[in-house]
Amino acid sequence: MKAIVQDEYGSHEVLKLQEIEKPVVGDDGVLVRVRAAGVHPGDWLLMTGRPLLFRLGAGLRGPRKRIPGFDFAGTVEVVGKHAKEFKPGDEVFGEAAHGSCAEYVSVSEDKVALKPANLTLEQAAVVPVSGVVALRGLRDAANVQSGQHVLVNGASGGVGTYAVQIAKALGAEVTGVCSTRNVEMVRSIGADHVIDYTEEDFTKGGERYHVILDNVANHSLAECRRALIPEGILLPNNGTAGGRWIGPLGRMTAALVQSPFVRKQGRPFYAPVKKRDLLDLTELIEAGKITPVIDRTYPLGETAEAMGHVGEGHARGKVVITV
Ligand SMILES: NC(=O)c1ccc[n+]([C@@H]2O[C@H](COP(=O)([O-])OP(=O)(O)OC[C@H]3O[C@@H](n4cnc5c(N)ncnc54)[C@H](OP(=O)(O)O)[C@@H]3O)[C@@H](O)[C@H]2O)c1
Repeated sequence: MKAIVQDEYGSHEVLKLQEIEKPVVGDDGVLVRVRAAGVHPGDWLLMTGRPLLFRLGAGLRGPRKRIPGFDFAGTVEVVGKHAKEFKPGDEVFGEAAHGSCAEYVSVSEDKVALKPANLTLEQAAVVPVSGVVALRGLRDAANVQSGQHVLVNGASGGVGTYAVQIAKALGAEVTGVCSTRNVEMVRSIGADHVIDYTEEDFTKGGERYHVILDNVANHSLAECRRALIPEGILLPNNGTAGGRWIGPLGRMTAALVQSPFVRKQGRPFYAPVKKRDLLDLTELIEAGKITPVIDRTYPLGETAEAMGHVGEGHARGKVVITV
């Protein structure tokens, strides 16, 4: 099969299109003919091997898993001998343990769901990682309630475009923070208020929020807390900030360590994709409450360019690879 392969850490030039062996299906999984894959900043981090701490898990000298990509959508081709839920031909989406930038991916059944009926495979492929992070952060970690005021910093990005729509679906009043070129788009997906960060600093305005989802980390934790109500919740969600050794872990740890001593809590969260979340997102998508925002689409052979675009940190919604 054709796949994108990486044998060393580095910038997007390390990604090469190659012919390699098709993966085999696991007993509890399915083999999916991938039609589209989604790219997100986590893929870019794993490609670069930064922060260096990540290499303890991903491979010290080079990536142990050579094919990038987590998000995918496609058609079930082979069903494992203990897998019960899917049959060949089913159109599905989900998160692979790695390797979705390829013609085939082998995945565990519990990370896969039937594609939402009203989405194309390209749209479905960009839902899992970013949609689940936004859902788990706002609904579970912050327990957003109807009538609360939620601010999404980085509202125009992969996570932010889902977060604005999910916060609205939870009944919140939503403020999105983005740059001038994205103001209309963020308003069009449901934000009640939009702050253009090139003109206004949300941490210095008079407004106070129940919840801040911070996808950008361009303000200190103390500055973000200043913009919260006294019992407000800060969700630090940036994986790309920080130094070359520990990256975002410094900020996440600081938020966690400070929380018992301050009323305005910082709640870092980790949101691996689970089938239950895919089903909850499907319900919201099929009810018309969430629509993926797609920035650009690239063919598999141009995955390096797609990754480079994501790595620049100015994607407008999600980036798709078609296979
Ligand atoms: N917790 C988890 O499990 C998890 C999972 C996935 C991702 N993440 C993390 O979540 C973060 C966000 O991911 P993402 O996919 O949304 O990233 P993304 O798509 O790369 O976000 C890019 C967006 O950020 C905006 N932006 C850049 N500078 C900004 C600023 N100063 N103020 C406001 N917006 C700004 C950009 O808008 P402009 O172009 O207009 O500047 C762009 O639309 C990443 O750091 C990622 O590592 C966490």
